[in-house]
Amino acid sequence: MRPFTSLLLLLLLLLLRSAEPRRGPRSGAREKGTGGRVRGRGRAGVTRRQIQGCKEYMEAGEKYLDCQDRQLTTVMQDWPKDIHHLLLARNKIQILRDNMFSAFTQLKSLDLQQNDISMMEDGAFTGLSKLTTLLLQHNGLRTASEDVLLPLPRLTYLRLYDNPWSCLCSLDSLIRKLQLPSNRNLGNYAKCAEPHSLSGQKLKKINVDALCEADRRPGDKDGGRPKLPIKVKPEATSMCHTYMFPKPLLDCSHKGLDHVPSDLPSDIVKMDLSSNSIKHLRAKQFLLSKDLKLLNLSSNNLHHIDTAAFAGLLYLRELDLSNNSLHHFQYGVLEDLYFLRKLPLDNNPWICDYNIHYLMYWLKHHPGVAYSGLICTAPSEFKGWRVEDYIKTYNGDCPKDRQTGSVDTGQGGQGGSENDAQEEGGETGDRQGGRLPRPLQDRRPNKFEIIRLS
Ligand SMILES: *[C@@H]1O[C@H](CO)[C@@H](O)[C@H](O)[C@H]1NC(C)=O
Ligand SMILES: *[C@@H]1O[C@H](CO)[C@@H](O)[C@H](O)[C@H]1NC(C)=O
Repeated sequence: MRPFTSLLLLLLLLLLRSAEPRRGPRSGAREKGTGGRVRGRGRAGVTRRQIQGCKEYMEAGEKYLDCQDRQLTTVMQDWPKDIHHLLLARNKIQILRDNMFSAFTQLKSLDLQQNDISMMEDGAFTGLSKLTTLLLQHNGLRTASEDVLLPLPRLTYLRLYDNPWSCLCSLDSLIRKLQLPSNRNLGNYAKCAEPHSLSGQKLKKINVDALCEADRRPGDKDGGRPKLPIKVKPEATSMCHTYMFPKPLLDCSHKGLDHVPSDLPSDIVKMDLSSNSIKHLRAKQFLLSKDLKLLNLSSNNLHHIDTAAFAGLLYLRELDLSNNSLHHFQYGVLEDLYFLRKLPLDNNPWICDYNIHYLMYWLKHHPGVAYSGLICTAPSEFKGWRVEDYIKTYNGDCPKDRQTGSVDTGQGGQGGSENDAQEEGGETGDRQGGRLPRPLQDRRPNKFEIIRLS
């Protein structure tokens, strides 16, 4: 009976294999490569044959590169770059290095299960903006930071189980990320291997607030390493209200926040961060909020906005920065906002010097953006002027500019309150070697407008 059973098993296996969808007869598979297993034969030629051993095929219009079971320790430069699915299961990869996959920009899934991966550098997945599925189960990972997932805005499935996770303070940011309700398919079933007190507990379920405290407890076996402070991060999901209808809205207004929460959910369309005390917008804080159409930052104490602060906000249409402490925009800040339509800027202490030119320059080149409230508060000679008019006087020493006639219709939807302020301003604008700015009532379109950038 024994031989018969094993024969049956073999048959069954063969059947299962041929039933694999991507090898099915209807898949239109176009296979390249030798197809043979070349594992471990002849050290010198290994790499080359390994590459050839990968199979490239199409299924349902998507390209697969199957490099499973090839003893690979890294990816190869000569692999096709336009693939959608990269299968690297059961190889010998130990470290995921910065930019390792960055050439494969079309990747939707990356299967790295059953390797020997013990470390991921923070930039390992840089460039994979389309990746939805990442399989890292059955490896040797102990720790990682949420930063490693930052380049993956579309990630929906992440497998991390069967790794010896060390549930200490250093894992805190990743665990917080996994525990966000919006990330319900990230990291399910992954469990702590250490410390002993948490062994076997799910990353999704452990009390993350206790992690860093436990780290500080004297007598812990890791007690010798530097003590990390307990991170006090505002929790967007616990502090703010999320409304799903009519559009996903995250309401974090009036929460006393002094910086943008680090765990913003990625599927939000409107975000209200108004009436907090945020002073500084740092680079890439909204990177994951790719669907955002409205961002309300009014009534904070915004003083400084880093250049890449709005990176990733490709679809943002409305950005409310009114009632803050902005003096100007740093060069480049607005370059990520391709589809912006409304930009309320009222009630900020705009300073009319060369730093303001970038903002006006950008607005000139984006006539579809309706802005409001660009009024100089300093220096005193321009106090109360529209920034637009200040720029015109700055350019006023161009003779061509002075001779054109007729009336400027104003631009960019800047409404109201303009005229009174300008008249007083007109008398005090004596700078630039005694040349008086032209009377502002006498406004005309500038055929040639030279905007000087610092
Ligand atoms: C932003 O929030 C403020 C204060 O809640 C509100 O007055 C304003 O209308 C909001 N802006 C937008 C564009 O919704
Ligand atoms: C402007 O912001 C301050 C706090 O920064 C707030 O007290 C005030 O009510 C806001 N004004 C308006 C018009 O929203």
